[in-house]
Amino acid sequence: MATSVPTLSLNDGNTIPQLGFGVFQVPPEDTARLTGQAFEAGYRHIDTAEMYGNEKGVGQAIRDSGIPRDDLFITSKLNNGFHEPDTARKAFDQTLADLGLDQVDLFLIHWPLPTKYDGDFVSTWKTLVEFKQQGRARSIGVSNFQPAHLARLAEETDVVPAVNQIEVHPYFTNEAARSAGHDAGILTEAWSPIAQGGVLDDEVITKIAAEVGRTPAQVTLRWHVQRGDVVFPKSSSPERMAENFALFDFELDDAAMQQITALDRGEDGRTGPNPDEFDFIPD
Ligand SMILES: NC(=O)c1ccc[n+]([C@@H]2O[C@H](COP(=O)([O-])OP(=O)(O)OC[C@H]3O[C@@H](n4cnc5c(N)ncnc54)[C@H](OP(=O)(O)O)[C@@H]3O)[C@@H](O)[C@H]2O)c1
Repeated sequence: MATSVPTLSLNDGNTIPQLGFGVFQVPPEDTARLTGQAFEAGYRHIDTAEMYGNEKGVGQAIRDSGIPRDDLFITSKLNNGFHEPDTARKAFDQTLADLGLDQVDLFLIHWPLPTKYDGDFVSTWKTLVEFKQQGRARSIGVSNFQPAHLARLAEETDVVPAVNQIEVHPYFTNEAARSAGHDAGILTEAWSPIAQGGVLDDEVITKIAAEVGRTPAQVTLRWHVQRGDVVFPKSSSPERMAENFALFDFELDDAAMQQITALDRGEDGRTGPNPDEFDFIPD
């Protein structure tokens, strides 16, 4: 069985490694070191954001690694204060400068903010379309978009997002947003894939882990992989980075997959904010 990371096809003809490394809550001063350790563990796909304040550290790690640019897949996201087209253009220039790159592989609208900017995420999306046309973002997508937000983009623009990055884990399978994306050819990226550790003591998951001889984190991440979603767990430990990378030499059977999916708690299972209400604009 393959032990390398599979790539998935995006609707714009590009591909994405199914497993990456996320740097949410990685302090800026630690980011170059931890991202470098992730590269050593084999990760080639990094998920950062303007909001995380650590794009410079990711850029430093890329330069320090000596890994050819074409072997890497780098994602960043537009911060919530920058949705208006002119500010989005400036913010994207800054993202590229901070990463030290001419091009990102994927750029996302981080949150739809339907209660801000007169609910206008459509002009923001059209600005990301410019970045793609300029060749400065190879692919573009959205994050935390609800089915109604995806439907509005489909009605008012010609470009379908390549991905929707949303909260998904066994306690919050987020099936409505996931299947709306699936029906429109939008790949789901599952954020907080182990619920920031919250599912690792679950009885069902620990029992399956014991049966297959893997850790609860590996079982949970493997469940995502078999569902066809993209994941990028975060860890500050090289041992856990290696653990989370070792997902491609075992399989869960249908019964195990179904038992994990059945852990869904609906809206009560969310760990993060509801995108319909979230309106945080950083200072
Ligand atoms: N678009 C969005 O709005 C959004 C929101 C949230 C997250 N994200 C993205 O998704 C990525 C992942 O989500 P996340 O960072 O929130 O949470 P996560 O990956 O589900 O969990 C990370 C937490 O789990 C621990 N952990 C990691 N591997 C472990 C293992 N094998 N065993 C035990 N504990 C383990 C980590 O601790 P240690 O560091 O101590 O290992 C950390 O506390 C983020 O980094 C970010 O790129 C996006």
